[in-house]
Amino acid sequence: MKVLGISGSPRKGGNSEFITAHALRAISEEGIETEMVSLAGLNIGHCIGCYACQKEHRCIIDDDLPPILEKMKAADGIILATPVYFSGASSLVKALMDRTGMVARYSDSLFKGKVGGPLVVGRRAGHNFAFAQMNYWFQILDFFMTGSSYWNVAFGKDKGEVAQDKEGLDTIWNFGKNVARLVKAVRVQV
Ligand SMILES: Cc1cc2nc3c(=O)[nH]c(=O)nc-3n(C[C@H](O)[C@H](O)[C@H](O)COP(=O)(O)O)c2cc1C
Repeated sequence: MKVLGISGSPRKGGNSEFITAHALRAISEEGIETEMVSLAGLNIGHCIGCYACQKEHRCIIDDDLPPILEKMKAADGIILATPVYFSGASSLVKALMDRTGMVARYSDSLFKGKVGGPLVVGRRAGHNFAFAQMNYWFQILDFFMTGSSYWNVAFGKDKGEVAQDKEGLDTIWNFGKNVARLVKAVRVQV
């Protein structure tokens, strides 16, 4: 069993990577394989609305996203982290959600039965909007989802600053533990 953590910030070594790694540590402690992918530095364009995915069951845009979609397909669980950008998810995360989400919907519910959920980090406000935005993606794509002791939001602006938000990190840690339990409960080991 494997959980994939995707950090959706364009900033390398930032807070989104930190909280993704934090959640994945909680999960790997429970004996589940984990992998982190950072979208920082990758070339991921936005959905162009061509609907080729409806016929081809893949995204025809030839950039850095298709290999990530393959990792998503192979995973039992997917955690998606974003920095808050003007009260929403980053444009990288939005592009990933739009493109992989449409492929999934036109491929017999590709993510059906996987476990997943969002993580959010921002300086001051707008976390819950980004959290809700990403929850809508997980919900419509047939994921099994879990909560935590609070919403999965954390605070920090500069690189590494989120390490000081104990409550945020505790929430994300607990979320990771719940993801691990859910993966074990609903995914059949092959
Ligand atoms: C374009 C842009 C928009 C932002 N908008 C918000 C915002 O609406 N609310 C907020 O609390 N922080 C906002 N921030 C701050 C980031 O969310 C914060 O620095 C976060 O820790 C960045 O995560 P990262 O280190 O993973 O890139 C914004 C930052 C940028 C660059």
